[in-house]
Amino acid sequence: MRRVRAALVPALTLNRRSATPIYRQLYDGFRAAIIDGRLRPGQKIPSTRSLAEELNISRIPVVNAYEQLRTEGYLEAAVGAGTCVAQAIVDEPPRSSTAVRSRKPGRGTKQPPTPVALSGRANELLRTGVSPSWIPRQGAFRMNLPALDQFPSDVWGRLVSRHARAMRRSIMAYGDAMGHLPLREAIADYLGTIRAVRCDASQIAITTGSQQGLQLSAQLLLDESDEICVEEPGYPGARLAFIAAGARVTPIPVDEEGLCVENLPRIAPRARAVYITPSHQYPLGMVMSAARRMRLLNWAAATGAWIIEDDYDSEYRFGSYPIGALQGMDADSRVIYVGTFSKVMFPAIRLGYVVVPRHIAPAFAAVLDAAGIFASPLYQTVLTEFIQQGHLARHIRRMRMLYMERRKTLVAAFCTQFGNTLEILGADAGMHVAALLPRGVDDVAVSRNAARQGIAALPLSTCYMNPAERGGVVLGYGGATLHQIRDGVRRLAASLPK
Ligand SMILES: Cc1ncc(COP(=O)(O)O)c(C=O)c1O
Repeated sequence: MRRVRAALVPALTLNRRSATPIYRQLYDGFRAAIIDGRLRPGQKIPSTRSLAEELNISRIPVVNAYEQLRTEGYLEAAVGAGTCVAQAIVDEPPRSSTAVRSRKPGRGTKQPPTPVALSGRANELLRTGVSPSWIPRQGAFRMNLPALDQFPSDVWGRLVSRHARAMRRSIMAYGDAMGHLPLREAIADYLGTIRAVRCDASQIAITTGSQQGLQLSAQLLLDESDEICVEEPGYPGARLAFIAAGARVTPIPVDEEGLCVENLPRIAPRARAVYITPSHQYPLGMVMSAARRMRLLNWAAATGAWIIEDDYDSEYRFGSYPIGALQGMDADSRVIYVGTFSKVMFPAIRLGYVVVPRHIAPAFAAVLDAAGIFASPLYQTVLTEFIQQGHLARHIRRMRMLYMERRKTLVAAFCTQFGNTLEILGADAGMHVAALLPRGVDDVAVSRNAARQGIAALPLSTCYMNPAERGGVVLGYGGATLHQIRDGVRRLAASLPK
């Protein structure tokens, strides 16, 4: 390697052993210097002969490099004699962001990154965000995490390896956009029995989880800037899915009976759809009353709007029988029902489903096809067998008992620690509870304090689009052991203002 510093050229580094030819290294070196502004427009550069001599190389690569730079407009013939950097570079600097960043200040000067022209949608997604960055990924009270260590991974692993070894054509080819038919049949049976959903396999599409189901549903039903109503407070992930689909999202308050349906005509008279979690409101945990369900279905029938029902964790209901899905009450084909295996299996499985009214199933298949993101056929096949052999039902039964015990421990620890000062909501179902903080207490500050103690406490205010009237924390207990729960409640207490 040999470095040379000619009067009018920046430092060049040539590597004779490199696979990149010498003429290309010269070309790259000059081009970078011109783009960076180290070689200014009009500045003279050495003749091919003197540069070749200085570098102790033949003239040919130098001639070739200059020729290429001249052809591309970086160099031009100087008036009189020789070659110089093209004047036109001044008027039309190269549009690369590196050039813009490093043109003026000296090398090594830190510059703020050039603003990137993103879509309004991407900027809104950035602002809305997913989970607050300070919340620990591990430890007590992380949301949406089932008891991963309790999953029968030996059974699952055996099935995966058997199907992976066989590698049948059906798990190697594209297959049906709506998903593996036997899995859709198994889901139709399961939903009919457990959730009173009325459907057959032709109405079921397999997705890579509810999140994809929500986004595809929005793409199916809504045009750019169409309005969709969501619960306030509500599931932030749904908001993201609808923003990503280009929809306008309007919050509608909830009370102890669920979504305040009577507010819809006033707040969003032109809404094209409503997203709800009627079996277990996210995050507050109430069940939507029968009266509200009827009212919502009537509103949808009258206005031609759609209802997206997210039934994300209703397998886990304690103390009372599971509540039937809203979809089962829908006589007018207005409900899109979205479900997931993230809670009853594990989130990384990325498998969920959408039940659509029969007449829009072909359109849903088209939207899925366009997205081109399909759940793994291997996992779909394995899951079918897992369900058919009764492993899923057995696992859900075991987990219901386990979560019941975890929930009891959490409620008891709360009573001991806080007495009546923290009000717990939504302990009848699912894998999380919400606890309202005393009025005036900043839930983000509490969440940050808790994070310093290794505790994941989601601020309730992050589930609101408007400012929250009262702060709180949302605590997942599905993935926490009894010890972690008791210890976590103690640490949470230490995170509250004295
Ligand atoms: C209310 C609700 N809906 C949907 C989802 C998304 O689940 P998935 O992992 O299937 O995308 C979650 C995630 O935990 C959730 O809490």
